[in-house]
Amino acid sequence: MENEKKISKKRKIFYIVLSSLALILAVLMIFSNTYIDVENITFKSPDIPKNFDGAKIVLLSDYHNQGENFCDRVIKITEEADPDYIFITGDIVDRIRTDTDKADIFLKKVSEIAPCYLVWGNHDKNVPREDFERLKSSAENYGITILDGTTIRLYKGDEFVSLTGNYYYYDYPPCDADFNIWLNHFPENFEPISEQTKKDGNQMDLMFSGHAHGGIIRLPFVGGVIGHNGLFPDYTSGLCEYDNSYMIVSRGLGNSGNVPRVSSTLHIVICELQREE
Ligand SMILES: [Fe+2]
Repeated sequence: MENEKKISKKRKIFYIVLSSLALILAVLMIFSNTYIDVENITFKSPDIPKNFDGAKIVLLSDYHNQGENFCDRVIKITEEADPDYIFITGDIVDRIRTDTDKADIFLKKVSEIAPCYLVWGNHDKNVPREDFERLKSSAENYGITILDGTTIRLYKGDEFVSLTGNYYYYDYPPCDADFNIWLNHFPENFEPISEQTKKDGNQMDLMFSGHAHGGIIRLPFVGGVIGHNGLFPDYTSGLCEYDNSYMIVSRGLGNSGNVPRVSSTLHIVICELQREE
């Protein structure tokens, strides 16, 4: 009788621990998939032209076709940041949720805030051709600059920085500015672009990226767990450095298909450029 009581007490404790863990995980998952973390990053460099000192960039990545309420939250945060430029680093649509009307609303609203520049992500390139063409038309209709193996100059007064955007790391025209900014959906292209531009004699200074979704699961002291090419990817979130090049990675705003995040919150980066004297 005494022994039976002990077993049922142990079983009770086991169920309490198990249900507490399940509850913590559920809360963590709801939080990670709904809360938008806004990270402010100040990027300093002596190569930033004087007229760009204080220029503000909002980085929006991996929108993955969210609904209108979510769109309005993103727009409100972006408006409040009062950016000079908005960089959109791919996966605006989602190859499972291929409703380009949602992406159209997002692109329209975001284009009304500040000049927008975008590069494509793997999901954008993998939706049916007619959906991709619709997405491209939306961006063009709203005056968003599509960078796809393209380098342009951004001017403030008579000073400029270069802005390059590409899908494949090796696909880019020469950059001729003192400060070279890059947009590429894939953070794993950071090192090859840095190395190749260094060989060209005008190394990339700052790249903006997404794709990793923060490593989908994030652990304290470890960072992102799941990468597209294996576990524990190198670059999943925030400011990273490699051989005098820097990259800012957004954990993104949506999920691939139905893969939820755990402890990797949605992420908007507000980057302020500062000229270092
Ligand atoms: Fe994505």
